[in-house]
Amino acid sequence: MIDVNKIRSDFPILSRKVNGQDLVYFDNAATSQTPTQVIDVIIDYYSRLNSNIHRGVHKLSQEATEAYEIARIKIQKHFNAAKPYEIILTSGTTEGINLIASGYSNLLKPKDELIISAMEHHSNIVPWQMLCEKTGAYLKVIPMTLEGTLNMKAFGELLNKKTKLVFINHVSNALGTVNPIVEIINKAHANDAYVLIDGAQACPHIKPDLQALDVDFYVTSAHKLCGPTGVGMLYGKAELLKLLPPYQGGGEMISTVTFEKTTYADLPHKFEAGTPNIAGVIAFGAALDYMNDIGFDSIAKYENELLNYATDSLQKIDGMKIYGEAHNKTAVISFNVGKIHPYDLGSILDQLGIAVRTGHHCAQPIMDFFEIPGTVRASFSFYNTFEEIDRFIAGVDKAAGMLQ
Ligand code: ALA
Repeated sequence: MIDVNKIRSDFPILSRKVNGQDLVYFDNAATSQTPTQVIDVIIDYYSRLNSNIHRGVHKLSQEATEAYEIARIKIQKHFNAAKPYEIILTSGTTEGINLIASGYSNLLKPKDELIISAMEHHSNIVPWQMLCEKTGAYLKVIPMTLEGTLNMKAFGELLNKKTKLVFINHVSNALGTVNPIVEIINKAHANDAYVLIDGAQACPHIKPDLQALDVDFYVTSAHKLCGPTGVGMLYGKAELLKLLPPYQGGGEMISTVTFEKTTYADLPHKFEAGTPNIAGVIAFGAALDYMNDIGFDSIAKYENELLNYATDSLQKIDGMKIYGEAHNKTAVISFNVGKIHPYDLGSILDQLGIAVRTGHHCAQPIMDFFEIPGTVRASFSFYNTFEEIDRFIAGVDKAAGMLQ
């Protein structure tokens, strides 16, 4: 059970005013808010531990290293990876994807095939296009349906012996669709292709069991999960990560360096060159603790109630068109009202203290598919309330009346 009033008291930002009104924060798919329990960990790090990790003989460095590696183990346990060294700490989902794309640039041959879907974020499109340009591989796209789901029959037809890698988001950031990743992984594996899942939008709502999924690579960001920005994780099966070359050269990713030859460190350090976001990683661990204390089943159930309530209420507004009507959705609603430009509607909502995202949501192919410039996107979290949804619906109604 969610005790929303108690939860809200953990988030200082939720009691601020915006444009003279109580903030309603419905842009959670862009970034989640941060509870005091996580903010305090960052303050504590800089107040008590600040030093560099894996390098110092002194106490501060040892304590910071221990806190950093404890956070890695928390992340490993949360996602049920087999080994801590299968968790590579990154700056976020985008870096995780680019690390894999860069690693495969010497492992693909011309005419090899890669598969993505029509509902990917640009960060799960552009790195693979760049990889295709480098290697001569082809990028194929699973089409989507009008209700915003993947055409799985077409996926089966795209797979063939030339398919090497498949990249799919677990949840679409623009539509909220939860994709059938178990089926995708099983079909790809039956075809000897590896699978990378972009979990940025799924992890705030779903706790993935990476060993049960048998996925090859999985990426996500801390800031969608009540953690700080600039931190994320890449999971990879150890045997696959070992085959990939380092992504960046620098300190701490080496075993030995001479001017003639450098040998690389073992996993995970081979992929963690330079001083990382130490406080951010420790805070990522604290954010997972915070969310696990609430419980992902309770979070999903409550957010689903918010989603259903908001969907039913929005549908009563004249001219309302919701994009993304999959049966299995997270708490994201993308919509337009008549011919009103999403930016205009979003700007009026902002004047009312209501934060939503407008535009193409870094998923232009989805907007092209629906032949629209963009949408207004409201995305809910477990700290939002039904009263906030009422204010939002009244705001959309008012804006529509002013703009139509
Ligand atoms: N990818 C984030 C979003 O969907 C930023 O808003």
